[in-house]
Amino acid sequence: MTPAIRIENLAKNFGSTAAIRGVSLEVPAGRVLGLLGPNGAGKTTLVRMVATLIRPDSGRILVHGHDVVREAARVRPLIGLTGQYASVDEDISGWENLYLIARLFNLRGRKARARADEMLERFSLTEAGKRPVGGYSGGMRRRLDLAASLTGDPRVLVLDEPTTGLDPHSRNSLWAEVNRLAGQGTTVLLTTQYMEEAEALADALVVIDSGRVIASGSTAELRARLGGQMLRIQPEEPGDLARIYQALLTAGHTEATVMADEGRLHLPLTGGGSQLTAVVRTLGEADIPLASLDTHIPSLDEVFLKLTGPAAREPVAARSAA
Ligand SMILES: Nc1ncnc2c1ncn2[C@@H]1O[C@H](COP(=O)(O)OP(=O)(O)OP(=O)(O)O)[C@@H](O)[C@H]1O
Ligand SMILES: [Mg+2]
Repeated sequence: MTPAIRIENLAKNFGSTAAIRGVSLEVPAGRVLGLLGPNGAGKTTLVRMVATLIRPDSGRILVHGHDVVREAARVRPLIGLTGQYASVDEDISGWENLYLIARLFNLRGRKARARADEMLERFSLTEAGKRPVGGYSGGMRRRLDLAASLTGDPRVLVLDEPTTGLDPHSRNSLWAEVNRLAGQGTTVLLTTQYMEEAEALADALVVIDSGRVIASGSTAELRARLGGQMLRIQPEEPGDLARIYQALLTAGHTEATVMADEGRLHLPLTGGGSQLTAVVRTLGEADIPLASLDTHIPSLDEVFLKLTGPAAREPVAARSAA
């Protein structure tokens, strides 16, 4: 089956800034792909190319088999874009914004008016609909933006950081709307800086940094890259850390690490429950008083920080300095 979005070896420069350097990815029809990355990673640049707003320097993007450069006019009606910055007209009302968009999608007269009414209703903007958008709150603008991008009933919805600046209530209703659309078969490409958002919405994730794909997979697969579950052992006396370390080593648990600043030892639990039992027995035999013992699963935020943080960048910096 033709994927909804297929990106091949895409590159884009702005002057001497290489914003995207060799990105390839695919979004199967009806799926939600979360595109994650820190500030300046290239997320907006990438989605703007998908939405035909800027042209790639090299590589190509196909939307339902149509090239975004050569067949831009065929791609545009397939796509709804909610940009990182509100793209609605501030001087006219919310209703008028939606009505004009409905007209752009070739709806006429009563049909265009009905569509504008329907979209306002769906995004709880009916009351505000008559007022100029200039007086809307940030959350209302975001909702109007999303309503605008859905007015043409797109097969592919592109959302650039849709919930940045939203309160938890507005964020949840936007998430529910995206999940509802995805359930109806709309393909969604979503950029975000929030792992929690990616986990709530996306079937698969692609992490980009400095214009390159640095990781991809399901949330579970990305978590597994941090080594999965970790046992954390904290003695009552920090002075006992070395004794615990030694006892674990002697019993064959060679992967323990002393985290002196935390006053704890970390031991990856690669051997499952039987390893946990063996460790508890070893600690019991050593008879060292413990303050706490817990298992920790890395959060997706920890995964994100590990993938895109300073430690992850070092080899790149070293290479460019050479
Ligand atoms: N129109 C432009 N002219 C010059 N440089 C640009 C332009 N657009 C983007 N860039 C540069 O390209 C890089 C990627 O920017 P982009 O906006 O795509 O990042 P982003 O991942 O969307 O970041 P953020 O999370 O802050 O929105 C940055 O270095 C940015 O400064
Ligand atoms: Mg951006």
